[in-house]
Amino acid sequence: MEMKRNTLCWCGSGKKYKQCHEKFDEKYQMMKIKGYHMPHRELIKNPKEIIEIKKSAQINSGVLDYVAGHIRTGMSTEDIDKLVYEYTVSHGAIPAPLGYEGFPKSCCTSVNDEVCHGIPDPNVILQDGDIVNVDVSTIYHGYYADASRMFMIGNVSEEAKRLVEVTKECMEIGIKAIKPWGCVGDIGAAIVEHAHKNGYSVVRDYAGHGVGKEFHEDPIVSHVGIKNTGMVLTPGMIITVEPMINAGDWHLYIDADNGWTSYSEDGSLSAQWENMILIREHDIEILSA
Ligand code: MF3
Ligand code: CO
Repeated sequence: MEMKRNTLCWCGSGKKYKQCHEKFDEKYQMMKIKGYHMPHRELIKNPKEIIEIKKSAQINSGVLDYVAGHIRTGMSTEDIDKLVYEYTVSHGAIPAPLGYEGFPKSCCTSVNDEVCHGIPDPNVILQDGDIVNVDVSTIYHGYYADASRMFMIGNVSEEAKRLVEVTKECMEIGIKAIKPWGCVGDIGAAIVEHAHKNGYSVVRDYAGHGVGKEFHEDPIVSHVGIKNTGMVLTPGMIITVEPMINAGDWHLYIDADNGWTSYSEDGSLSAQWENMILIREHDIEILSA
């Protein structure tokens, strides 16, 4: 779409096009002509949207901090869910998982060999030595945030601790690989290298994603990507990086009873960390931690 330079920018910023996305569009068109996979405009957030998404991310981080302050041996994963629900709602927000495609709870709690989408349950009691991922997602003023952390319960084996730490490094290394106008495949390429170097495997069946105006937007952020491939990440995009790393093989199976929870097929431990990343003009910003 051609835009007159003095008309308002397509991004909804309220600024004149020539003072907003004119240069962006020049670069965008050049890359498109060269054959790069360019993002649709819907994936480019304007400054007002970014402010709202950051507020949502702040509440989301608050939920995770609140969980961190209360999680302990003997607590059920249902108790964690209650903490998440109460904190979220008391901050004027909505837990995004609740009712999402039929998901019954306010967060995901994935213990030991559970890879992701563990459903909080009053009968699942956290035991000394467990590792658990708490994955929290928030809707605030209609804007989405999504992040997760690992928690180590009581005295955890060296083996489990190393998996949790290396998985966090995988997330951080994936985030470091993000460059404005770089390709989404760079992220997974960096992650898979670090995981394999440590003798671990990277889960292929789930991926990171665009986030903000919806819970899950394009692009798909594979954690086993190939350098210089996939969608270009431009300023204004927000994505998650959320590698799931298995101590053993990456193959999974899904719980036949609940249709959600996935487990490592070989029963090996699995860990995951997730953050949201804003791509800016010259750098990136981590929106949740
Ligand atoms: N929070 C997950 C993610 O990181 C999605 C969970 S979907 C749910 O993308 F329904 F299980 F909550
Ligand atoms: Co996510």
